[in-house]
Amino acid sequence: MQGSPLEFDFQATTPCAEEVLDAMEPYWKDHWGNPSSRQSRGGVRASAAVELAREQISSCLGMDSFRIAFTSGATEANNLALLGYAREYCAKQGQPGHLITVATEHHAVLDPLRQLTKEGFALTEITPNSDGLLTKEMLIKAFRKETFLVSVMLANNEIGVIQPIKLIVEACRSRGIKLHTDASQAIGYLPFNLEDLDIDLMSISGHKIYGPKGIGCLIYKPEISLMPLQWGGGQEESLRPGTLPVPLVVGLAKAVEIAYRDLSLNQEKLAFLRNKLWQGLKIRIPDLVLNGSLNNRLPHNLNITVPGVKGHHLHAELRPFISCSSGSACSNGEPSHVLLALGRSKSEASASLRFSIGRDSNSSEIDRVIQILVKIVDRLRAY
Ligand SMILES: Cc1ncc(COP(=O)(O)O)c(C=O)c1O
Repeated sequence: MQGSPLEFDFQATTPCAEEVLDAMEPYWKDHWGNPSSRQSRGGVRASAAVELAREQISSCLGMDSFRIAFTSGATEANNLALLGYAREYCAKQGQPGHLITVATEHHAVLDPLRQLTKEGFALTEITPNSDGLLTKEMLIKAFRKETFLVSVMLANNEIGVIQPIKLIVEACRSRGIKLHTDASQAIGYLPFNLEDLDIDLMSISGHKIYGPKGIGCLIYKPEISLMPLQWGGGQEESLRPGTLPVPLVVGLAKAVEIAYRDLSLNQEKLAFLRNKLWQGLKIRIPDLVLNGSLNNRLPHNLNITVPGVKGHHLHAELRPFISCSSGSACSNGEPSHVLLALGRSKSEASASLRFSIGRDSNSSEIDRVIQILVKIVDRLRAY
């Protein structure tokens, strides 16, 4: 009898941590007031919980002077940041300008930016180096007179590479260009202080860090003006109207708090397991290719290409035993645009695997993954 597959797809999503569930519970059952109804006791309590959550997130991420708009997740936060800032800029300037991003961004960044090109904005999508990293020089080369906004993710969801964000900030600052970063894969896995980093807009998501699904936020500097994407009851300073999901907001704050409380412990453990996986596989399958830089990488990510096997065979054979991914959870089965941007062919990209390790993963599971994958690759290559 085959048990459940070993779970190695924690960058797609994570289960809700017990502590997060506990923190949310009273706000489903007892304190169910509407935080916008301040005339009622329940409303005041709910509003206080939301404000406390804001403070918790601010203090964990070192961002006292920033504002937070809660959203349904990182997709919405990215849309609000990019469409909201660009449309406001255009309304003020009387004409659209130029935007820059990287070809390896998540579709939740690429697609809103491509939407803006239909509204008259110009867009440059920089192809990074073959290790997935952008350089300051590449960015500077892409700048134009009309460039007003750059969006570069902090860490990549498929290949885990961590972009040199300080250098990117420096390049943008020196020209007065605003910077947005999609930090949904980096938050909770990297030490972080937003005030130091000086990023203008940042998106995060709850379900990547053992928080609930359906919640995230856009963090932005007070001087940033955004055009809302929807209109209604004026919540979130009219940027994101609609009744806030208080239990999810409380859960997000708890998830951020736990992630930063346990950061160094988790980082160490995850990097140990990831390195064990990579080394164990590489010794047994020497022509295995690592996608993305090994050094500038999230501790829980490994992305590899298996030469000489067909992607659909590899995934079909692995599926009953190991739950991992061929790319982004949102790629609709297409070969990964990230791996193609790194120079992999379509067949190489489809014969690629992203393993993402969880907080509760252990060493014997890594041994099992190595054993299973090596056996499958040997069998597929023997055909
Ligand atoms: C880098 C990145 N951005 C955005 C998203 C979308 O986040 P959400 O599911 O919170 O909308 C994801 C999730 O896959 C992601 O990995």
